[in-house]
Amino acid sequence: MVDTEVLPSILIIDDDESLLESYTVLLEDEFQVCTAETGETGLDLLRHQDIHLVLLDVRLPGIDGIEVLRRIKALDENVDVIMITAVKNVRVAVEAIKLGAYDYLVKPFEIDEILSLLRRTLEHQSLLREVLYLRAEVDRHLEMGNIVGRSPKMRQIFDFITRVADTNATVLISGESGVGKELIARAIHQHSQRHGNPFVAVNCAAISEHLVESELFGHERGAFTGAVEMHRGKFELANTGTLLLDEVGSLRLDLQAKLLRVLQEREFERVGGSKMLRVDVRIVAASNQDLWQMVAERTFRDDLFYRLNVVPVHVPPLRDRREDIPLLVQHFLAKYNKAFGRQVQGFTPEALAILTHYHWPGNVRELENVIERLVVISHRRLLDVADMPLDLVSVRGQLVNDIFAVGADLRQAKAEFERHYILQTLEQHGWNQTEAAKSLGVHRNTLLTKMDLLRIRPTPSSDASMPKDPKN
Ligand SMILES: Nc1ncnc2c1ncn2[C@@H]1O[C@H](COP(=O)(O)OP(=O)(O)OP(=O)(O)O)[C@@H](O)[C@H]1O
Ligand SMILES: [Mg+2]
Repeated sequence: MVDTEVLPSILIIDDDESLLESYTVLLEDEFQVCTAETGETGLDLLRHQDIHLVLLDVRLPGIDGIEVLRRIKALDENVDVIMITAVKNVRVAVEAIKLGAYDYLVKPFEIDEILSLLRRTLEHQSLLREVLYLRAEVDRHLEMGNIVGRSPKMRQIFDFITRVADTNATVLISGESGVGKELIARAIHQHSQRHGNPFVAVNCAAISEHLVESELFGHERGAFTGAVEMHRGKFELANTGTLLLDEVGSLRLDLQAKLLRVLQEREFERVGGSKMLRVDVRIVAASNQDLWQMVAERTFRDDLFYRLNVVPVHVPPLRDRREDIPLLVQHFLAKYNKAFGRQVQGFTPEALAILTHYHWPGNVRELENVIERLVVISHRRLLDVADMPLDLVSVRGQLVNDIFAVGADLRQAKAEFERHYILQTLEQHGWNQTEAAKSLGVHRNTLLTKMDLLRIRPTPSSDASMPKDPKN
């Protein structure tokens, strides 16, 4: 963000001394103005001072405007440059845009014209800075391997991974689909002594029922019709490494019994075999079904549950840790910009608000898909509300529809909107009233009065500071 206490700095490069003086008079209320009469002195100033914007004449003595632009961008691609040109040189200015100039002005111009262009450019700057700030944050401690997150819960999970990785303890990861369970399992393996050895994942829900046993434990040649070759199971393949039993809740009861025995004895035999095989495997299990409940319903063996549930970790859905969304957005933008050779820098605050307020039933996987799609189809650097997928935007209109449906008058509708907006903001700030008030632009006391008036109270599940999962 541009610091509001210090004026943004602008460098004007023009060889006309009297023009430089008028620019200075015109702009010094809003900017810290530096001037240079040649490209060389301008570049020198840029090297030694923090400059936000450059106004650059196309025609200069010595190195010309276009070359100066090239060198500025080579020094710091984030400095915005506005070219100034006479009518006859407009083509050159258009050329300059291709080289990275932000915009151009045609001489002579009105005071209002230059001021509004400069303000717009500054807005772009502050967005860019926000993006760069987020990117720097992604680089700093807010990631672990490929996992990014800044929410207290994700930091706790990073901490958990580091502590548990080097033990051989069995880990049970629970959480909705797409929250990153497999990613966490991989990170545990990567941070353990076993990291040079195999990581093998098996999705118990994706294998047809009659093949699960042979997938897990292997089979001998001729064990059943079609078993023409001996086949090693995932347990054998994961020897000395880590085995992820994904969707462990969908294992048949008889296989649950066999799995339990393997976990206890650390030995098993292939289907149709008689030789006992010993393996050294670290088990990580994952489930998006509630295994507690399955135990209660007797569809999951309690003894197996306790074997797997040695160190449990629950990954909350994305809508319960919305602070992670801007960071994830930046992470996926970088990933897909690279993959598709694109230059999407970020989102306008309004577009980002849509992304952070959406309820993401498919969690991080859904967010990743949306960003991938946007990067593929967009040719602009900054994406706005109009670029957003309709299914995300319509959620915003949903509230209006809901209020409309109950036939509220305008006063009730406004109150209802206010209630939702305040609630949403509080949730986004983990119910920190000082921060929420700041974000709403009101005094904390005003917020408290409104909360009282509109009957806004934290629900037990919305208190982010309290661990809400009984399994943790
Ligand atoms: N915190 C995160 N940081 C970066 N990428 C993430 C994060 N969480 C999830 N992802 C990405 O989201 C996608 C889904 O993650 P993953 O496969 O680990 O989810 P899952 O919980 O195993 O889902 P399922 O239950 O459907 O198997 C992956 O592409 C993963 O890379
Ligand atoms: Mg998974």
